[in-house]
Amino acid sequence: MKNTVLTFKEAKKKGEKLTMLTAYDYSTAKLMDEAGVNSILVGDSLGNVMLGYEDTLSVTMEDMIHHGAAVSRGAKNALVVIDMPFMSYQTSVYDAVVNAGRLMKEGRGNAVKLEGGKEVCPQIKAIVNAGIPVCAHLGLTPQSINAFGGHKVQGKTEAAAKKLIEDAKAVEEAGAFAVVLECVPKKLADLVTKEVGIPTIGIGAGNGCDGQVLVYQDLLGMFSDFTPKFVKKYANVGEVMKEAFSNYIKEVADGSFPAKEHEYKIDDDVIEKLY
Ligand code: KIV
Repeated sequence: MKNTVLTFKEAKKKGEKLTMLTAYDYSTAKLMDEAGVNSILVGDSLGNVMLGYEDTLSVTMEDMIHHGAAVSRGAKNALVVIDMPFMSYQTSVYDAVVNAGRLMKEGRGNAVKLEGGKEVCPQIKAIVNAGIPVCAHLGLTPQSINAFGGHKVQGKTEAAAKKLIEDAKAVEEAGAFAVVLECVPKKLADLVTKEVGIPTIGIGAGNGCDGQVLVYQDLLGMFSDFTPKFVKKYANVGEVMKEAFSNYIKEVADGSFPAKEHEYKIDDDVIEKLY
């Protein structure tokens, strides 16, 4: 059954946890979909884990559409949420609606995600009014990394915690169907989860959120540039890949690959006529 924004609403009502994972390509999305994840986020984290940038600021609309469309082709049942990249919505309400529309029309997403609280509520309202579901993102919002001065836990002071709660209420009021809480103390995330009617999806926000999201390369142990405290490695796929790559290199070098069973045959009399 296809997950929709109604699945999210129902899950919060029933107290059922939601699962979200990032993906950036068809094959990975298909595997996650088959595993039964509720939602796949085509995160602008693709700038880090797929394109090797040190932050998400250089990610373009074209990158998001290209990867979004690949994921959408692989995800039959998961709700596909595509990130709006840096400066695709901050500039104006008009830009926000046009670019959200492109992520739906060309990227074939089911929803978009954007970062920020009260300051982006006019954009959230306008996108939702255009019939496009919006997931909000609060706490450590990586597009503002320069303003934060690094990857730091957010909402730790009374003022910052109050602002986070107010922002969560504001994005709900503006029409967001869910809100990601990134790098927020557990007790504050628990409070936000209680105060808002929309599902909270945590990443580094404890287990009291209505759902969880992780970057799949982190979960599979495939990305070693930077591993935040909140990551749990469910497998060491990076090591498995490295071992397979070095076995391939060794076998090509010593001639044991390709072996007989990997060859195609031709009749000997055809070959003889070629000499
Ligand atoms: O871009 C991304 O992958 C995200 C998640 C970390 C929530 O926004």
